[in-house]
Amino acid sequence: YALPQSPQLFKQLLMCSGFDKYFQIARCFRDEDLRADRQPEFTQIDIEMSFNTQYDVMRVAEEVLKDIFKSCGREIVTPFRHMEYKDAMELYGSDKPDLRYDMPFIDVADIFEKSSNEIFSNLAKDRKANRVKALKVEGGDLKFSKRQMQGFEEYVKKFGAQGLAFIQVKEDGLKGPLVKFFEKSELDELIKRCELKVGDVVFFGAGKKKIVLDYMGRFRIFLANELGLIDPNRLEFLWVVNFPMFEQNDDGSYSAMHHPFTMPNNPDEPDLEDITSIAYDVVLNGIELGGGSIRIHKADIQEKVFRLLKIEPAEQREKFGFLLDALSFGAPPHGGIAIGFDRLMMLVTGSSSIREVIAFPKTQRAQCPLTKAPSVVTDEQLRELGLRLQKKEQK
Ligand code: AMO
Repeated sequence: YALPQSPQLFKQLLMCSGFDKYFQIARCFRDEDLRADRQPEFTQIDIEMSFNTQYDVMRVAEEVLKDIFKSCGREIVTPFRHMEYKDAMELYGSDKPDLRYDMPFIDVADIFEKSSNEIFSNLAKDRKANRVKALKVEGGDLKFSKRQMQGFEEYVKKFGAQGLAFIQVKEDGLKGPLVKFFEKSELDELIKRCELKVGDVVFFGAGKKKIVLDYMGRFRIFLANELGLIDPNRLEFLWVVNFPMFEQNDDGSYSAMHHPFTMPNNPDEPDLEDITSIAYDVVLNGIELGGGSIRIHKADIQEKVFRLLKIEPAEQREKFGFLLDALSFGAPPHGGIAIGFDRLMMLVTGSSSIREVIAFPKTQRAQCPLTKAPSVVTDEQLRELGLRLQKKEQK
């Protein structure tokens, strides 16, 4: 017996059986790490429709959000802007960038490849595995002391950075320990590419792609807070589109980035990392407000995706036989979205945590501070459930 993580497959079955529009205020239960915008029990505005494209779903979601914000006294402008997942990651190091301020990363791998520092030049050569990104702070050299800038390294090191080099733009030229590794022409190219002016400072992140994008993304947010760049009254909505279908795990295997029921754009692409999906997230001020996709409506594509995920036919039948059967009866093209209702209320009310908008929320450790649940169970309760406690085996 399991509680629903979301009614995703059930709403798909409704579409297969001939309902062409569905919405539900759905309670969901998830066992995942908790953060300021997550709770183990939460509510979704869950939507599904048939014979539609992703743009139909986006339009409905925009209208729902527009009405909700309007009833709370805020006018919002639709349609929202769109950004490719790839661009969001490469420019902001996040699949949910906060666009109330800009500060995009600037790719400088080609300039670092020419540097006389072998560590930098070698890693800059491998454009698939590594990244070298610059983050410019306009007037940063006037706002931050050198000591402060050196201190920022401690912040990014928490997220796996080896270091955080920076170059200051002074009246008499570029300054910093990195400068000596570059020829004048390369420094000129850096000034041009980053549009550097006297008083600016530019920070550099270099290393493995995933790590660099992550810590530079966090650093961008950190700097925006330090510099007071975030206008709390602005609402910046964004659709992030074309997510990768799969992501590689540390052991080399692949998982579905959203879920395995999302329609791939290019399912026959040989490199799994290049397969993208018709999935979209709606982001508000750096928070994922909702997510959805166009679903796979053909059994053969669904089986292929399961196969790529190493879910063998016997397991496919055992776990998802009901879905494969429904798809094989002739399912309409369909897709939808779920908007996180609690997150929406958190943003509408300007609260800093989802706990502020939920009565009796759970703590970060998923405990209820009022009833102290989960707590010790009695022998009688265990008997009722047919459970027996066993001592952990000593290794
Ligand atoms: P997803 O898992 O992206 O998609 O969830 C949709 C939205 O639900 C909210 N949400 C949460 N809110 C609070 N606490 C949580 N633990 C939590 N987890 C998710 C977020 C998120 O954007 N079935 C798909 C939707 C679909 O494709 O139709 C789904 O559940 O705001």
